[in-house]
Amino acid sequence: MKGILLAGGAGTRLYPITIPVSKQIIPVYDKPMIYYPLSTLIASGINEILIITTPHDLALFQSLLSDGSQWGCSISYAIQSEPKGIAEAFLIAESFIASDNVVLILGDNIFYFPSLEFVVANSIKNKGASIFAYHVSNPSRYGVVEISSANKILSIEEKPLEPKSNYAIPGFYFFDNNVVEYAKQLTPSRRGELEITDIISKYYELDLLNVIKMDKGTAWLDTGTVSSLMEAGQFVQVLEKRQGLKVGCVEEQAFIKKYINRDQLRQLAKAFNNNYGKYLISLLND
Ligand code: DAU
Repeated sequence: MKGILLAGGAGTRLYPITIPVSKQIIPVYDKPMIYYPLSTLIASGINEILIITTPHDLALFQSLLSDGSQWGCSISYAIQSEPKGIAEAFLIAESFIASDNVVLILGDNIFYFPSLEFVVANSIKNKGASIFAYHVSNPSRYGVVEISSANKILSIEEKPLEPKSNYAIPGFYFFDNNVVEYAKQLTPSRRGELEITDIISKYYELDLLNVIKMDKGTAWLDTGTVSSLMEAGQFVQVLEKRQGLKVGCVEEQAFIKKYINRDQLRQLAKAFNNNYGKYLISLLND
């Protein structure tokens, strides 16, 4: 299973913050935003990752993440010249995906998943797609899935004005290899984008869509507006201060997954003469 992390887009809702810099580079409490989805991919057992970004931001991501070998991962990069939609990722990533299945995560989606391994084990199918459903108070900002009490999918809509349910579809999706072919069949929506919900609908029509409700202990945080960005930072701060454990720590997840050993973790910690470095050292004593 390969991973795509989509970190392009114009970030206009966060202007002026994102005029000179990618949204996914700006901090969410103590680390750049992209660390969170990247650590979710690594914690899911994915270490072959393609980052798709803009021509303008590519160098920034390369300087931050390099080729991923420091975390026992392979990180490569591709360019999306204009934000023509989330589903364009599969066209850009066609040669990267090759004959494998693929997970897509959006660079501005932050998850706090106490039971990620269990969830991932249920999401990986040889055939079909898996998406999540997360109960929110403001579904019209998202892709929305309507599910019956018997857990049957009734509809899928992108940012409906009158949502049929409160279940939003987070930006973390599992697809089989056919996703590239389905992406090729898409036409741009009214807002001119290749929509991820159109890909999801295709799997739904074929009766190959699996929806997993995220349980109540899971947090899915939005960073789309200045308020939600601030709230996401506060959420991470509260959890980290209370527990003394980090959320979205790439080095930690790579260590847990055994992509790096103790010596490599110790070496990485040396680069940080601060609490982040102390935290990495503390992992050696756990
Ligand atoms: O956050 C989950 C939601 O993400 C889903 O529920 C929706 O179905 C999905 O369409 C998407 O909605 P947003 O309006 O929040 O997407 P946004 O345009 O903000 O882009 C999400 C991320 O993807 C962001 O990090 C930028 C990146 N992106 C987006 C587009 C459209 C790209 O890199 N390229 C693009 O062309």
